[in-house]
Amino acid sequence: MSNPSVYLDHSATTPVSPKALEAMLPYFSEIYGNASGIYSQGRKAKHALEGARHTVADILNAKPPEIVFTSCGSESDNMVLRGVVWQTLQRKTNRDKSHHLIVSAIEHKAVIDTARQLADFFSFDLTILPVDGSGRVDPDDLRVAIRPDTMLVSVMAANNEIGTLQPIIELAAISREQGVPFHTDAVQAPGHISLDVQAQGIDSLALSGHKFYGPKGVGVAYIRSALSLIAAQTGGGHEGKHRAGTENVAGIVGLATALREAEDLRPSEAPRLRALRDRLLQAIPALIPGARISGHPTERLPHHASFLFKGIEIQGILMGLDMAGIAASSGSACTSAAQAPSSVLTAMGVSAADAVGHLRLTLGRSTTDADIDHLLETLSPLVTRLRKLSPTTH
Ligand SMILES: Cc1ncc(COP(=O)(O)O)c(C=O)c1O
Repeated sequence: MSNPSVYLDHSATTPVSPKALEAMLPYFSEIYGNASGIYSQGRKAKHALEGARHTVADILNAKPPEIVFTSCGSESDNMVLRGVVWQTLQRKTNRDKSHHLIVSAIEHKAVIDTARQLADFFSFDLTILPVDGSGRVDPDDLRVAIRPDTMLVSVMAANNEIGTLQPIIELAAISREQGVPFHTDAVQAPGHISLDVQAQGIDSLALSGHKFYGPKGVGVAYIRSALSLIAAQTGGGHEGKHRAGTENVAGIVGLATALREAEDLRPSEAPRLRALRDRLLQAIPALIPGARISGHPTERLPHHASFLFKGIEIQGILMGLDMAGIAASSGSACTSAAQAPSSVLTAMGVSAADAVGHLRLTLGRSTTDADIDHLLETLSPLVTRLRKLSPTTH
């Protein structure tokens, strides 16, 4: 199958940029040495690895040893949540005391399922912060929830399903006042919003290469040097003893090159995509009866548009769009009424009946005005057709 002519699922993944690909290529077959080797091949690989670490540290305003390369965003979230909880509970004397973790209701499963599993396994309290109808956490709710025994607060920077940005600077400041580390899943952020761990008071964060035109299978965990945690993956002591395993040098070089490029392009790409995205946010509710924006109307990722279509299952829309050469998604793995609705939409107060009609359109470097025209021309008659066929037509 050829690529879709209009790809509107950049929050799911992005193609590897030509620059990142070119930077990676030598590390597959020419400079293949193990970065732990003391011979010249190994030293060259090590040099590339440390260069990539400096690049990522520089972009995040972190110190190079605080950058840990992982295999994906999920692993980075797991590393921090498990590491902090294990660190706190490692001493027997600590196990009888009360402990507490805070996450938000709209976290990716990599955070919320990990938090639930840990709370269940170790029998500590877990607070799940609610969100409002636009998917935002209220900092006052964190103020009320935080306790002397809170081990970590984890609230994502930007949501993948609805695009809503969280007030992470305020949330991090509240956590810091109480001496509690603040983690943010920033997987959706690079290239769209700025990340500065000092200015934003972030103690740890997660990134994933394939969300910003880097390769799949490589991620980043930023771990502030003051934050102690126990390694979730033990072995040869790689990555500052945080993550054992021979480093994926090609992937890491690709990730760092892609992050640099995304950051360099952000001043021009973010406003360009925001303008295209705003066309969708304005046109779709106006063109299609029963369609409304999901997530925050303005405090959202610049490339992210998402909607709820009343009385229609998204599967039909996605298939109809695919037949017109448009790749889009619902923003969550579940799109059928028979399965549980998206926990993000449920947390926002969307009914199970409405949650099945969720459409996510995420724009990227390839997106043009003509793509938006094609989407709008296709979507409106498609929804009308499906509503006529659907037994739940409103
Ligand atoms: C917000 C968020 N966190 C974490 C992840 C997981 O990233 P990865 O696929 O690299 O494990 C994703 C992927 O969709 C995401 O959108």
